Amino acid sequence: MAFTPRVFSGIKPSGDLHLGNYLGAIRRFVPLQDTHETIYCVVDMHAITVWQDPEDLRRRTYEIAAAYIAAGLDPAKSIIFNQSKVMEHAELSWIFNCVARMGWMSRMTQFKDKAGENSENVSLGLFAYPSLMAADILLYKATGVPVGEDQKQHLELTRDIAKKFNHDFRKQISAAGFEGDFFPITETLATGPAMRVKSLKDGSKKMSKSAESDLSTIYMMDDADMIAKKIKRATTDAEALPSEAAGLAGRSEAENLAGIYAALSNQTVDQVLAEFGGKGWGAFKPALGELAVAVLSPIAEEMKRLVADRGEMDRILRDGADRARAIAQPVMEDVRNIVGFIR
Ligand code: TYM
Repeated sequence: MAFTPRVFSGIKPSGDLHLGNYLGAIRRFVPLQDTHETIYCVVDMHAITVWQDPEDLRRRTYEIAAAYIAAGLDPAKSIIFNQSKVMEHAELSWIFNCVARMGWMSRMTQFKDKAGENSENVSLGLFAYPSLMAADILLYKATGVPVGEDQKQHLELTRDIAKKFNHDFRKQISAAGFEGDFFPITETLATGPAMRVKSLKDGSKKMSKSAESDLSTIYMMDDADMIAKKIKRATTDAEALPSEAAGLAGRSEAENLAGIYAALSNQTVDQVLAEFGGKGWGAFKPALGELAVAVLSPIAEEMKRLVADRGEMDRILRDGADRARAIAQPVMEDVRNIVGFIR
């Protein structure tokens, strides 16, 4: 059967938003709202899989919704809401907990990284996390999910859950009047530069909300001086920039900074290197600093203005949740019927 081209993505309010979130996700959400039906969520239920101070959780939830809008999402076009407002996410994730296998979850590298040595002591929610993520996406029968590279494995699992559900309930799906599959096999949208932004201090690690050095992550709310300082102090090698992307092989810090420049200026890495090839860091870093400030500062200003207008933010999130629910409820009705729940 034909599916509406629909995009879903989400960001977890578990730490302050950073450049990786912007380049790997938010920036790429914007153009999709002209070609797809777009649903962008602040996944607060995912955030609490590790302890969150409730006040911080609330503040960050507003901040992410504000960042979506400040970066160019139009709440009249895109559905913007926080996950916990639409209960069907939790309901479908329970059903998916009963579809997904323990072995699938145990292989998730993000779980292994987060649980580390401490896997007996992390929350059950952290283990089941990918099943809630599959529910987020499939509740809307989304066909595409824009994310950074670190989410690819979770999206493979989403496809496995969709396939197993479609397979296990084939008879009931067909009896309910659906031709072929009930859930779509969702595509991962993760191409272009900066799909994995690295730490500014260590090119072997990704830029993240929980970095060990303050200088390794550029936060969306950093002011112009702080952004320039972090870029200036970024770790690099001693060589000049090459004149094409192939020359970046094995130079992860250089590759990272060139990729950030490319993404921020909407160019390819080759285009950036055509301009900077042969030049040293003394020329490149100030140019990158200026570019980053020019792109990020207006977004930070607008975020501040929006979060200060609590009434307006609440209205946007309520309206988004109402529109999300209008899509989710009929899908959930079908799911309940398919699995055999009496209503
Ligand atoms: P989260 O909150 O960790 O990250 C949000 C988005 O930012 C991307 N990202 C990066 N991209 C490039 N470089 C980086 N260093 C970097 N760090 C983060 C992530 O890939 C992501 O796209 N599980 C998800 C949230 C989620 C979700 C969903 C996403 C829940 N349900 C449904 C898509 C669809 C997460 O923790 O993202």
